[in-house]
Amino acid sequence: MDIRGTTADSPLPPDEDAIIELRRIGKVYGQPGAEDSVTAVQDINFTIRDLPGSGQCRVFLGPSGCGKSTILRIIAGLIEPSSGEVLVNGEPVKGPSADRGMVFQSYSSFPWLNVLDNVRFGMDLAGVPRGEGDERAAELIRRVGLAGTEKMLPANLSGGMRQRVAIARSLACRPRIILMDEPFGALDPRTRRDMQDLVAGLLADNDLNQTFVFVTHDIDEAIFLADRIHVLSARPGRIVGELEAPRATEYTRNAMSRGEYQDLANRIIAMIYGDDDAAHVLSDHLLLEE
Ligand SMILES: Nc1ncnc2c1ncn2[C@@H]1O[C@H](COP(=O)(O)OP(=O)(O)OP(=O)(O)O)[C@@H](O)[C@H]1O
Ligand SMILES: [Mg+2]
Repeated sequence: MDIRGTTADSPLPPDEDAIIELRRIGKVYGQPGAEDSVTAVQDINFTIRDLPGSGQCRVFLGPSGCGKSTILRIIAGLIEPSSGEVLVNGEPVKGPSADRGMVFQSYSSFPWLNVLDNVRFGMDLAGVPRGEGDERAAELIRRVGLAGTEKMLPANLSGGMRQRVAIARSLACRPRIILMDEPFGALDPRTRRDMQDLVAGLLADNDLNQTFVFVTHDIDEAIFLADRIHVLSARPGRIVGELEAPRATEYTRNAMSRGEYQDLANRIIAMIYGDDDAAHVLSDHLLLEE
């Protein structure tokens, strides 16, 4: 029996409103049982429902090494889980697809292509006509604050600028799902904040009603960007709780600098590190998937 009361012989039908469903996902790197094998994540279950009309930002938050990149790569179709099922729009994931844009943890532009061609790359593969691709790429480059850099090579850009290129590229094919793997981890605090504001701006005028799935180990970043936070334990990563967080706005930013969300941060810490008293207080605020 699985948690929703079905057997392996009668698999659950896909949740029709779900854009992403992970069912009992586990990932072991190496040969299971071998001395050097690593269980990265265990029994990961969650459903993200499509939210037409508003879009959303789900954040996976957990300590370094708890399997956040592993979960995102499984959703992206870049690696296969060792157990369980992953469905996107009700279909089993068989590999990467243009319906899921990805921004990687390390800078990942094509070094031999200029900024415009980097952003256009996926659209070329998808067969978007050249004129339309150029127009869309130019608009995205403007939107991420890089107008004027179209002809520059990634090597001549700063880390923050390269991640802007990666974000523009992930948006180019207008995917319904944008996967962001700790994209700002290597940036200085000021640039990181600017980039968080950029993502908040994309969410605010989310004309495509996209679902952002954002991975981080930074609690403040999670609280600022998330509509909902999935909290993971240390490795092997398991989901130890879910919380709602305020929509990212200038108000949220200011409230955070006044420490107004310290309470939420403390609850997250208690979830991860299992402080019993704090976890008790917390249980009222846990918002588990129905
Ligand atoms: N290709 C691999 N081969 C073997 N072990 C791996 C591989 N990829 C990840 N791991 C291990 O799996 C665990 C989870 O890794 P993962 O990269 O998913 O964690 P993470 O939460 O993204 O960490 P970080 O916050 O440091 O990016 C780690 O212990 C890591 O060493
Ligand atoms: Mg990672």
